[in-house]
Amino acid sequence: MSAWRAVILAAGAGTRMRSATPKVLHPVCGVPLIKHVLASLHDAGLDQPLVVVSPDADALRDYLGDTVDYVVQTSPLGTGHALACARELLEDKIENVLVINADCPLVPAGAIQRLMACHQESNAELSVMTTSDVEDAGYGRIARDASGNLTAIIEEREASSEQLAITEVNGGVYAFQSKSLWPGLATLKPSPKGEVYLTDMFDVVHRGQGIVATVTTDDSNDVIGVNTRVDLAQAEAAMRERIRIRHMLNGVTMIDPSSVYIDSDVRIGKDSTIHPNTHLLGDTQVGEDCHIGPNSVLQSSTVGQGCKVVASMLENATLEAGVDVGPFAHLRPGSHIGEGSHIGNYVEIKKSTFGHDVKAGHFSYIGDADVGSKVNIGAGSVTANYDGSEKHRTTIEDNAFIGSSTMLIAPVRVGKDAATGAGSVVTKDVAAGKTVVGVPAKPQDKTSKKKPKKT
Ligand code: UD1
Ligand code: CA
Repeated sequence: MSAWRAVILAAGAGTRMRSATPKVLHPVCGVPLIKHVLASLHDAGLDQPLVVVSPDADALRDYLGDTVDYVVQTSPLGTGHALACARELLEDKIENVLVINADCPLVPAGAIQRLMACHQESNAELSVMTTSDVEDAGYGRIARDASGNLTAIIEEREASSEQLAITEVNGGVYAFQSKSLWPGLATLKPSPKGEVYLTDMFDVVHRGQGIVATVTTDDSNDVIGVNTRVDLAQAEAAMRERIRIRHMLNGVTMIDPSSVYIDSDVRIGKDSTIHPNTHLLGDTQVGEDCHIGPNSVLQSSTVGQGCKVVASMLENATLEAGVDVGPFAHLRPGSHIGEGSHIGNYVEIKKSTFGHDVKAGHFSYIGDADVGSKVNIGAGSVTANYDGSEKHRTTIEDNAFIGSSTMLIAPVRVGKDAATGAGSVVTKDVAAGKTVVGVPAKPQDKTSKKKPKKT
């Protein structure tokens, strides 16, 4: 017999979300709700949980893959019925079952561990995580007797006005001793609503004089359960606040934390400053000593040490150390900018690699290009990468000088130390060290020596 196994209840219909997306796949701080639950369970030492799912949970199964095991609840007949579906798989194999609702993304691993420890130390048959003073109603109320023992959990829709006034509520995380759980579940009767409530187990255990333990969390945000989009926004706000605090305590400065949005997988080096109105999303990584923002969006991008990004957007882009971007630059997927480069106003870059110390200071489009080091890209230069049916690459070698308003008609190569004149349209490769000018661009020495016209 193993000591513990976690079960996640995720087979509810999620109707209150009014969404085509399953409730537990809605993101909170950039990550699906259920992933947060899995992460907390993992940190609490509970891997490979058993997830109770509905028969049409293909999207959820695709997302979770084989990091969990599954059991199907054929119709959503309530949380008690959902857990009973796991009986066959767990009975006689597991001593204690940790049950968690899939819709509570903020439960800290530490609180789960406290619940497990308290459950075992008090030899409880059933333990539950509670909290007080939640912002919204909708939670089961914790009824206690005169000596403070938990006697029952009363669901809101069945509570009297007196019971509704109880401030202590059920957080939706439980620990059960298997030996009383499975026989107990089988005795539960459906509520007037037709659902079998898992919370009726408290009444069963209390009546059988079993020990019931409670662990109370002081931060009611820990147990926010997401039933509606209003709850989702609340969970998002609470988690964002936690994420910001974590980064600030790790040495990141935020001028106005409330205007900074950081997804849960983002990493930021110390002594970096995140300026107002900045979004760091996906698995973005920011190095040390950076200044990001104001008004910047970094989506799944990597930023090296000592970079500056002002009023710009980066999507799946990489900046090596000491790169300076913006204001108003857009680095699209596949942009890799070498050390010490400068990307200025109104520059758009896509699927392009820049060496070190490249300067592209003013409105330009560089797409599908391999740019060497110490290249200067003059204002208004464009890589014409698309011929109407296919994309082609442009190569600009080290130390080349691209004059203002150069059109590089790909596929084309500008050699090392070569130069293009202002306004030139480059349709053919430029040899190393050569200068081309004109439309279409020709080597400067040839065009300057005009051939005498034949008469
Ligand atoms: C539940 C608790 C309530 C508690 C609250 C905490 C019950 C009866 N009530 O209420 O006391 O305060 O959580 O957030 O348990 N599910 C299934 N199969 C079903 C029904 C639900 O797997 O047939 C799953 C849902 O997907 C969800 C979880 O169980 O993840 C909880 O169900 P939900 O309907 O959200 O319960 P609440 O009304 O929030
Ligand atoms: Ca819920």
